[in-house]
Order: sequence, then structure tokens, then C-alpha cells
Amino acid sequence: MGNIVEIKHLTKNFTDKEKNVKALDDINLEIKEGSFVSIIGGSGCGKSTMLRIIGGLETEYDGEVLVGGENVTAPSRDKGFIFQDHRLLPWLTVKENIRFSLPDSQKKNDELIKEYLSLVGLSNFENAYPKQLSGGMSQRVAIARALANKPKILLLDEPFGALDAITKVNLQEELLKIWKKENITMIIVTHDIDEAVYLGQKVVVMTPRPGRIKDIHTVNLGTVRVRTGELFTAARDEIYKEFFKESELPFSYSI
Ligand SMILES: Nc1ncnc2c1ncn2[C@@H]1O[C@H](COP(=O)(O)OP(=O)(O)OP(=O)(O)O)[C@@H](O)[C@H]1O
Ligand SMILES: [Mg+2]
Repeated sequence: MGNIVEIKHLTKNFTDKEKNVKALDDINLEIKEGSFVSIIGGSGCGKSTMLRIIGGLETEYDGEVLVGGENVTAPSRDKGFIFQDHRLLPWLTVKENIRFSLPDSQKKNDELIKEYLSLVGLSNFENAYPKQLSGGMSQRVAIARALANKPKILLLDEPFGALDAITKVNLQEELLKIWKKENITMIIVTHDIDEAVYLGQKVVVMTPRPGRIKDIHTVNLGTVRVRTGELFTAARDEIYKEFFKESELPFSYSI
């Protein structure tokens, strides 16, 4: 399959009166259609900026960014976006939140809404209001809402960052299942090395000031993606080493 995303010499400066921040510096990246890519890096290395540019939420930059072979000039339904917070409208029920996001031609399509609520395991909550949902459930609704618009690519910016560890693991597994079933390209930005390795076929490692790609790892977890076992540990160790040097100071504690 071809590349759904092609980024060539992407540079992004944020300039205000006092200072200039080079958020991205000469980024070159190709992402294959149907793949799952993780982007990882410390705070401020330009991960969100890059995702926003791919999604058409940020349109001023130098270089070239193509999605599906076309220059990105605005957000569109074929580019779904999931943020760290769910951004559901509090005055609408779950079902109506999804309906609200749909194009006019699909607004009356209750079957479509039901299909995607069922996909994220929330069939019984269609009439609930956002305040009645847990953080994990709200994020599932956000995922259903994005997917109901049938995007070609789903962009996720730390979608599980605010969730507890157990909910997070469950949602990661569901996201993988959805990726396999729906056959769409997914790009996830995360701070979490385990999450990056578990989900991504490739892990793009970024460094800050200025934001650059340091390395791209290909993750080999064998035929089934599991978090235990040598392949996972080896993949994770490789990425840990990008960020942290083992302490060479001798130290000992006596307790
Ligand atoms: N709208 C903006 N105006 C000015 N500077 C910005 C703006 N958005 C981002 N920046 C700067 O660009 C750099 C990259 O920011 P970005 O939000 O992309 O980082 P990030 O990797 O997503 O960080 P985090 O992990 O903390 O979310 C930072 O130095 C930030 O201060
Ligand atoms: Mg960010």
C-alpha cells in the first residue's frame, strides 16, 4: 500500500513579539496507509504541533504535508482527531453528541450511531449525558464519534493520558481491535513508552528545541501483540535507551 501521509522538510516556527520558537525543524516522514504509528518524545518537542498540522488544525508552516496525496489546508471528516480531553458537548446525550458531528446526509442515520457505540462497548449508554460517564467511557464516545465519520486516518493526541492505568490498558486493547477491524491508519502521540511500543508498528522518537525526529524504531512483537515476554521488553528497552542513560554513579542503600 502507498503512503497516506508524506511530510517533506516541515518546519514550524511560532513567533510572537518577544521570541521565536522553532517547534518543528526539517521533519521528513512517510506513513503507510493502514499502519499504526506512535510518536513519542518529551514535553515541548512538537508532537502536538505535528499532529495538528497533519490534521489540518494548523495550516501555517514551511515545507510540504500531504495526506492522501493532497496538501492539507483545513480539517476534514476523513481526518479524525482525538484529544486528551473528550470534548463532548455536556448538554447533549451520547447519541446526540455523535449525531451532531455527522454530515447532514448521515444525521438521521441511527443505525450508524448504534454501530459505533456498539464498537466501543457503550450500546447501553446512548441516552446518558457526558457527566454520567467515567473518563474512560467519555473517551470511548469521542472515539466512536470520530469513527462514525469514517475517517481514513485517526490522529490521537495523548488520548489516554488522563486515565488510570487499568482503564488505559483496556482502551489500548480496544483501539488495536478497532484498528484491525476498521482498517484505518492511526497515529498516536504519547509520553508513555509502553503505550508507544504496544500500539505502534513504528515508533517515531522526537527530541525538543528544536523539535526533530531522532529515530524511527520498527517494533517487532511477533505474531501476537502482548505486553509480556522478551520481544516486548527488548523493544521497550531500545526506546528507553533513547531517553535515559543508565546511572553510572555507584550508590547503595542499607535499610
Ligand atoms: N500556539 C502556540 N504559540 C506559541 N508557541 C507554541 C504554540 N503551540 C506550541 N508552541 C510551542 O511549540 C513547542 C512545541 O509544542 P507542542 O505542543 O507541539 O509540544 P508537545 O511535544 O506536544 O508537548 P507536550 O508533550 O507537553 O504536549 C513548544 O515549545 C511550545 O511552547
Ligand atoms: Mg502535546
